[in-house]
Amino acid sequence: SVTSSRVIAIDGPAGTGKSTVSKLLAQRVGAHYLDTGAMYRAATLAVQRAGVSPDAPDSIAAVVDDARIELRADGSGGSRVFLDGEDVSAPIRTDEVTNAVSAVSAVPAVRSKMVALQRIHAVDDFVVVEGRDIGTVVFPDAQVKIYLTATPEARALRRHRQNLSAGRDSDFEQVLEGVNRRDHLDSTRTVSPLRPADDAVIVDTSDLSLEQVLDKLAGLVQTRTGGA
Ligand code: DC
Repeated sequence: SVTSSRVIAIDGPAGTGKSTVSKLLAQRVGAHYLDTGAMYRAATLAVQRAGVSPDAPDSIAAVVDDARIELRADGSGGSRVFLDGEDVSAPIRTDEVTNAVSAVSAVPAVRSKMVALQRIHAVDDFVVVEGRDIGTVVFPDAQVKIYLTATPEARALRRHRQNLSAGRDSDFEQVLEGVNRRDHLDSTRTVSPLRPADDAVIVDTSDLSLEQVLDKLAGLVQTRTGGA
């Protein structure tokens, strides 16, 4: 369809370098960048501000139904997210939100609302859309589908280094345990489990530099879009 012919879908678990790569790829090919994880985080912030428990799916659904969540490309390669008109791009990155986002994003009514919003965003644009279910659910007709992956150890090491350079305490074994636990939850949940689309190109970033991943993806985009 016209809508999805302008979509580059990038899915995969956390810790593969997905966000950095998606942002830079969008800049390189002249597309807008949409971070769908930020929308689930904004929904989670709305739930927390409403004082609703992460294990009350009906109340979560009601809060998110009332919340106005918008994603806007910021014009300099980034993406900003708004909750009821307020730019919440920073407060959605706290540990509190990170720890509750899985529960909120597992609620079917939350997912269907976010998916509908994400589809609207891509109508008039050439977009790189980053998430977990973009190639499988949101844009099954996307022109380019990429699934970034890496070994649990490589992803844990990346997260561990990020923690240290941000001045946070970090224990590699604990980080690795967390990665494995989340992988299990994400791939076994009933609603939109994390998996590559049948027609996605799987790119293992374990032994590749950022530049190498970027070159590979830009090459794929060029091939599939006839030289973007
Ligand atoms: O990529 P991230 O860490 O910002 O994503 C936040 C959470 O949202 C993560 O737990 C997975 C979830 N998510 C999702 O379920 N579907 C998406 N398309 C994007 C993110």
